[in-house]
Amino acid sequence: MIASIFKDEELYLRYKNTVEDIIKRIKGHEGLIRVITHYDADGISSGAIIIKMLYRLNKDFHLSIVEHLSEKTLSDICNKNKGQNGSSDILYIFCDMGSSYMDIMVEMGLNAIILDHHPPTMKYTKIENVYQFNAHIFNIDGAKEISASGICYLLARELGYYDLSIFAIVGSIGDMQHDPFIGMNKIILNEAREYRHLRSILKDIVYNCYDLPIWKSILYSTCPYIKELGNKENIIKLLKEIGIDPNKIYLEGEERDKLVSALKKYVDESQIVVDRYIINHKIEDAFYLSEILSACGKRDMGSVGIGVALGDEECIRIGKDIYLKYKKDIINQLKEIKLHRLNNIEYFFGKKGTIGHMASLLLRDRPIIGIHEEEGYYKISSRGNKNLINRGLNLSEAMSIASEFGGSGGGHNIASGAKIPKIYLEAFLRRVDEIVGKQMKQINKDTLN
Ligand code: C5P
Repeated sequence: MIASIFKDEELYLRYKNTVEDIIKRIKGHEGLIRVITHYDADGISSGAIIIKMLYRLNKDFHLSIVEHLSEKTLSDICNKNKGQNGSSDILYIFCDMGSSYMDIMVEMGLNAIILDHHPPTMKYTKIENVYQFNAHIFNIDGAKEISASGICYLLARELGYYDLSIFAIVGSIGDMQHDPFIGMNKIILNEAREYRHLRSILKDIVYNCYDLPIWKSILYSTCPYIKELGNKENIIKLLKEIGIDPNKIYLEGEERDKLVSALKKYVDESQIVVDRYIINHKIEDAFYLSEILSACGKRDMGSVGIGVALGDEECIRIGKDIYLKYKKDIINQLKEIKLHRLNNIEYFFGKKGTIGHMASLLLRDRPIIGIHEEEGYYKISSRGNKNLINRGLNLSEAMSIASEFGGSGGGHNIASGAKIPKIYLEAFLRRVDEIVGKQMKQINKDTLN
C-alpha cells in the first residue's frame, strides 16, 4: 500500500533502501545513541517513537529536547561528547530537525541520522556518515502529507512496531496536518486502523475530547476559541439555560445536540463537531494527547511530555495540570493582545512558549507574526493558512531572511520561525512585509498569465 504513494518504482526503491540502511545503522551501533528532538507535539511524538524502538532493540540511549537546532546547539551537543582525538562513537538521531544542517554535520564528522519533514537544503540520503530520511526527497510534502513522527514511524513499521502508529497520528495532529489526513498521513492512519491501534474515529463534539467538566472544556478550548464564552460565569449561565449540568464530563444524545445548537450562534458547527481519533493510549483521544504534549514542550517540560507519551501515570497527572495552566495563559493573553498591521502582515508581542499558538488563533486575512524577547534576541513565530498558501505565501522563505540580519530562520511555508538580534526587529519586519507582498502578487500575476 505504501508503494502507491511514490511517483514511480525507482523512488519507492530509493525509499526502501534509505529506510533499510538507517535501520541497519541503528541495529549495528554498539555504543550510546543520542536522540535530539524538537519541543513541540510532533517532536515529542517523534522522540517517543524512536526511544520505544531503541528500548525494543535493547540499545543505550539518551534523549534531549530542544527548541530548535542552530550551529551553536549542534556544536554544544556534539563537541561535548568528543574524545581527545576528536572522534566519537556516539550515534546521533535528530528528529523533526537537522535537514538544514546536513553539510555542517558532515563537516563535523558526525555519525548521524536525520529524520525530518522540513524542506532540506541538500537532497542526499547519505553523505559520509550522515544519513538523511526527509519526506521532500521522496516527493512527499512535509507540510501537509507527513509529520516528523510519521517519518519516525516509517522506520518503526519496518521492524513490525505498528503500535507506534498512534504517535504518528498524534504528531500529525500537533502539526495541524489532520484536517483532512492526506497522502502518507492517510496511509499511516489506515494502517493504525487496520491493526486496531486506532480504535475508532468518532464524529463528536470537540469538548468530549477532554476528561474535564464540560464548563472547563469550553473555557480552555482554543480550537475553537469562543470569545463570548471566555469566562466561567457566561459558560455556566449558558449551560444552565439549556439544562445541562456544567460538571458533567461527557455529553451524549439530546444534551450534545442542545449544546451544538446553542453554540452555533458563535461558531460554525464544523468547529464544534469534529472527528475524534480514539487510540490505544492512557489518554485515548489523540487530539487531547497532542495538546498535552504541546503544552509540556512549550513550558520547558518536554521530559514530562515524553513520560505522558510513554504512559507514566505521574507524568500524565502533571501533564494535564501543565495543559490547563498553559491554556489559561493563552486565554488570558488573547483578551489583551494588540495587533499591529503592516501592508501585508500583522504582528504582535507575546510571551515565551505561546506566540506560535497565539499566532494561529489570531490569524485573520494576512500572515501573522508573534514576537517575544529572549536574551538580547527576538524570537519569531509566523503562521499562515491554506488560503494564503494558495495565494503564494511561503513563510519559510520569508523567515530565512533573518540570516541577513545576523539571525536564523526557516520552517514550513505555512508555519515558520526565526531568531534575530533585537536591534534589527523593525528592519526585519519591513523586509518580511515586502517579501510576503511579492510572494502573493507573484502568484496573482502567474495566475493571470
Ligand atoms: O517555533 P515555531 O512553532 O513558530 O516554529 C515553526 C516552525 O519553524 C518549526 O517547524 C520550526 O522548526 C521552524 N523554525 C526554524 N528556525 C527558527 C524557529 C523555528 O526553522 N529559528
